Amino acid sequence: MGAPKIIVAIDGYSSCGKSTLAKELAAKLGYNYIDSGAMYRAITLYFLHNSVNLKDHAEILDALANIHLGFTFNENTQRSEICLNDENVEHQVRDMIVAEKVSEVAAIKEVRAFAVGQQKRMGRKKGIVMDGRDIGTVVFPDAELKIFMTAEPDIRVKRRFEELYATNPNITLDEVKHNLELRDYIDSNREESPLRKADDAILLDNSSMSREEQLEQVLGWVKERVSNEVA
Ligand code: DC
Repeated sequence: MGAPKIIVAIDGYSSCGKSTLAKELAAKLGYNYIDSGAMYRAITLYFLHNSVNLKDHAEILDALANIHLGFTFNENTQRSEICLNDENVEHQVRDMIVAEKVSEVAAIKEVRAFAVGQQKRMGRKKGIVMDGRDIGTVVFPDAELKIFMTAEPDIRVKRRFEELYATNPNITLDEVKHNLELRDYIDSNREESPLRKADDAILLDNSSMSREEQLEQVLGWVKERVSNEVA
């Protein structure tokens, strides 16, 4: 029998490097990595393509009934990528058009119930690293390890800008800054499971940490938690 598997919940503001850390951690541990934000982004993409009225709850429920979300592992990039109704939409969901609408969609009660239900099922066997905004508070309130990530706003804007600039050279720093500020505001102030640090989450400010340092730090925490499970 191998070491017991745990659940690692990573929450935090937009563009803190949650996904990068979560992905590297999952690969190192041999755990599944789930990018919960990609699920909200894929739902948003479907709503945009089908002109779903975000004020009409019946229309939203109808639309959700037609959405099947999944992840597929890309051998080339060694990453799991989001699929919407069996189509890989990993690139499309990173579009600015989706980023501009996703916080509004993710604040809708029916959308959250739909996504959270699926996320909880994904964690049944443990051995999972999931990142998002409500993972430690709502999706896995009993997760063995909860991390709340943060970084200075200017650093987050710069990181996000560099990521988007690679595929969209027309993007401006101001646009990225405005989108991040708006998303953080909506995510933190919505009625349905707003972004907040769980009381038992460890705060990780990575403003001046390298990727390696973050990974090493978190692997140490995982080791501690796993040995608690054995004890
Ligand atoms: O992590 P991200 O930037 O890809 O997330 C996209 C949006 O989805 C973000 O603005 C907030 C929302 N989200 C959420 O409400 N709850 C989650 N667990 C993950 C993301």
